[in-house]
Amino acid sequence: MNSLLLLALVSLCLADSFDQQFSNLVNYRTIYISENGPRLSVVTEQSKVISHRGGNVTLPCKFFRDSQAAPNPNQKMRIKWTKLTSDYLKEIDVFVSMGYHKKSYGSYHGRVFLQQASDNDASLVITDVTLDDYGKYKCEIIDGLEDDTGVVALDLEGVVFPFFLRIGRYNLNFADAEKACLDQDARVASFDQLYDAWRSGLDWCNAGWLSDGSVQYPITQPREPCGGKDTVPGVRNYGFRDREKSRYDVFCFTSNYKGRFYYLIHPTKFTYDEAVQACQKDGSEIAKVGQMYAAWKLMGYDRCDGGWLADGSVRYPISRPRRRCSPTEAAVRFVGFPDKKHKLYGVYCFRAYN
Ligand SMILES: *[C@@H]1O[C@H](CO)[C@@H](O)[C@H](O)[C@H]1NC(C)=O
Repeated sequence: MNSLLLLALVSLCLADSFDQQFSNLVNYRTIYISENGPRLSVVTEQSKVISHRGGNVTLPCKFFRDSQAAPNPNQKMRIKWTKLTSDYLKEIDVFVSMGYHKKSYGSYHGRVFLQQASDNDASLVITDVTLDDYGKYKCEIIDGLEDDTGVVALDLEGVVFPFFLRIGRYNLNFADAEKACLDQDARVASFDQLYDAWRSGLDWCNAGWLSDGSVQYPITQPREPCGGKDTVPGVRNYGFRDREKSRYDVFCFTSNYKGRFYYLIHPTKFTYDEAVQACQKDGSEIAKVGQMYAAWKLMGYDRCDGGWLADGSVRYPISRPRRRCSPTEAAVRFVGFPDKKHKLYGVYCFRAYN
């Protein structure tokens, strides 16, 4: 009798101990799973948002936690926004927030803040968007050992235009190309921007640099000198070229401007130097090529008078094709790089709003 009771007690203890161990194991497994599983996840509602130069934009980013895992109040969560470079090799700091501490970096300083529409909102608002803001952004949430990221692309409305200097075609290495676009109030276009322009009908039979260091050109009407008559339309790719030694034209991209683009009404025509001075006298500057393209594409600017531009070229923007003014297509017409002493042309000016 006694021994039987003892046996029962022992087995009870054993069972108890086994249950204890098993439940420990279960607990352990639960913790183990939650620490390595999706306890914190980041969601970007849109993979792409569109704005324009001077606009405000919100890059969406929300984070979600497992309901069981209570947040540790002693742990401050970090929200970090960075910009990815086109080659993905490095990231540019944009904004970091940890509790009440917030910091924005470089050209983003004073232009970015968290939307904070809800407790789990990490969306970033960028104000007064610039051409350099174009690109992909990474939202990273760091909570103790947990960490998750999401990526949002910021796209800009605008226009792509081919560009070469007065000194002639195929004269720009990559650094020259960057400077040439900058000088015309633009940036070197990305492949995506050139591709979109090609889909909208851009056809250009001279190869130009793109921002990733590749050299390409868009063809909508295949013909013999542009890759062959029997080829399919497309963006033709010369591949990545030596950024220092290779020389091509460039594709530039620009977006809306804050200012006024106009043809200067004046009784006489100008030499190039007179044109520069005439705009200055009018409280403006001689317009840049990018500004003419933006006025034409984004505001429907139309004027059938050839005028000097800052790069020493003469062009005119036609939005309503008509006889003697680009009859077959809406386009910025390129007259050429005339002798700067020729007094045959008007001038386009640009006055920036402050
Ligand atoms: C952009 O946001 C700033 C700051 O919130 C505001 O002052 C400005 O008016 C906004 N601009 C536009 C174009 O909505």
